[in-house]
Amino acid sequence: MSYKSNFKNVKGTRDILPEEAIKWKKTEDVIRGKMESYNFREVKFPTFESTDLFRKSTGESTDIVRKEMFTFEDMGGRSLTLKPEGTPSVVRMFLQHGLFNRGALQKFYYIERMFRQERPQKGRYREFRQFGAEVIGSGSAETDAQLVKSALDIFEELDIKGVELNINSIGCPKCRKDFVRELKSFLKEKLTGLCEDCNRRYSENPMRILDCKKDREKIKDAPLPSDFLCDGCKGHFEEFENRLDYLKIRFNIDNHLVRGLDYYTKTVFEFIHSDLGSQNEVGGGGRYDELIKFMGGEDTPASGYAVGIDRMMLLLPEKEEKLSVDIYLVTFDNESDLAGWKILNFLREKGFSCDKDPMRRSVKAQFREADRQNAKWVIIIGEDERKRGIVQLKNMDKGEQKEVSMNVDKIIKELKC
Ligand code: HAM
Repeated sequence: MSYKSNFKNVKGTRDILPEEAIKWKKTEDVIRGKMESYNFREVKFPTFESTDLFRKSTGESTDIVRKEMFTFEDMGGRSLTLKPEGTPSVVRMFLQHGLFNRGALQKFYYIERMFRQERPQKGRYREFRQFGAEVIGSGSAETDAQLVKSALDIFEELDIKGVELNINSIGCPKCRKDFVRELKSFLKEKLTGLCEDCNRRYSENPMRILDCKKDREKIKDAPLPSDFLCDGCKGHFEEFENRLDYLKIRFNIDNHLVRGLDYYTKTVFEFIHSDLGSQNEVGGGGRYDELIKFMGGEDTPASGYAVGIDRMMLLLPEKEEKLSVDIYLVTFDNESDLAGWKILNFLREKGFSCDKDPMRRSVKAQFREADRQNAKWVIIIGEDERKRGIVQLKNMDKGEQKEVSMNVDKIIKELKC
């Protein structure tokens, strides 16, 4: 047999084949289970939003908005964008649907596809999946620590070892004013020696220069946000550290960590893993106390994070997943096939996975297919079985075969033995 096609998936997108999809399902089950144990409520939001939403909230000066968004016009000339991250959509939903009326504290989580036009490489895709958590209404450092813990719980339940946590505080707009002034005066003379991105950031968002990988050495003596924190921000960060200590969570303070999105205030954090190579950030987040007000709401603190599921999957321990079906039907003639078909439908209602050959191939071919499908059990029916009102039930692992009455309850009893 030869199948030839010139169609390939688009660069930066990924196909997930059945064996891998099992791992994804298990992973998503763990995420949902853990998130719900923290009383986060799942939300889903559209694949595309108005471009303005991301421009305003993710921020005009960010790499995402400047060069990574998939933006297009609809037939009415409206500018739309495939969502590059989830926080703006969650905040929009919160405001649009009056979710603030449901109580002072709202906790959401999501498992969604995101789209960024980045140069594809290991762990970096143009379409990828994230799970994220957002807590709207709490300004407490306890919330930030709890968010961190929820992500670490998920890594632990998935048996992912070696995730490191980096934390920092970038202060509130008040303390940031002094910091940015000092930073700019420090950078002024050095600008000609810094990269193109840093030169642009100097006027748009100078704080981001701190996490430039290329110029790290040249800016190592730059003033840092931590040197300018007001008493409130300092206390908040100490409380965050204390809470992490209390939960016995190990962390590194990275004074250069500022994160790439414009909305962050105070706490920022990232989860990194050395096995991921250059794309070593498996997740990240922080506080965004100004965003809700900026987007038209009341002054409302908020905090959250997102983890790249595709990257997280690269960290799962190697384990071969075997596709299998509980029951496969093998029949000798048309009438037996119909009787068996009916039994399979009853068994499916009781939660068993079942299959049969719809092409009525030979008995040998049906057994071959049962093997290929890794069937745990095979139900065999021929004329003789029908006349006697029984089926043959074969346990494929043990190779044992037994006669069982042609009655769904009796078959189930036998399957459960
Ligand atoms: P982010 O750091 O831009 O944060 O993305 C979070 C995670 O998404 C990253 O740590 C990474 O694992 C994954 N990721 C990002 N880009 C790609 C890519 N091209 N391919 C594969 N994985 C990728 C946010 O998105 C914020 N919304 C997080 C947040 C929520 N902050 C507060 N609330």
